Amino acid sequence: MSAILPPESRVWWKQPVDRVEGMWIALALIWSLIMFFMMPYWHVFGKQNLSNEAYRTTPEAFSAKAQAMVDQYTVRTETEQKIPVVRPPAGSDVYLISRLWQWWPILELEAGKSYRLHLTSMDYLHSFSLQPENLNLQVIPGYEGVVTITPTRAGKYSVVCNEYCGLGHHTMVSSLYVVNK
Ligand code: CUA
Repeated sequence: MSAILPPESRVWWKQPVDRVEGMWIALALIWSLIMFFMMPYWHVFGKQNLSNEAYRTTPEAFSAKAQAMVDQYTVRTETEQKIPVVRPPAGSDVYLISRLWQWWPILELEAGKSYRLHLTSMDYLHSFSLQPENLNLQVIPGYEGVVTITPTRAGKYSVVCNEYCGLGHHTMVSSLYVVNK
């Protein structure tokens, strides 16, 4: 028996399944069912799979909303690209744009307050990974993903792109601030 030559008996699919092979098939089936039911389980009992909403959007429509927030609530700029740090009012809708290879703007949120975080991509698939919280959200072009977040601990968090998006993927990092009032 060889993997590259054609099988000796042409009607190989009618041969009985070996006991060991049957065992592996059963094991794989059981494991895939466990993985499948872990998804709803983690949604309810885990802390990482958030309930989210998604709407169709366009880069123009989304950047208009992000720009309006930046124009109103920028408190300073950071990094050599002068990325605005925005401190929107507690409880408001906040917008974050991802694109090759940047997050824009930088958000500064208040601990203990809830925000509606809107995410989109201007070009390709990116992923919003918040460290060290280990929160992961795919950021999909053409869609506006919305999650309600309530930061609990003040500090400087890192936003990392968690979906390979080309040569500058590893440079697609940013910050997110959580401050006490
Ligand atoms: Cu964006 Cu990787």
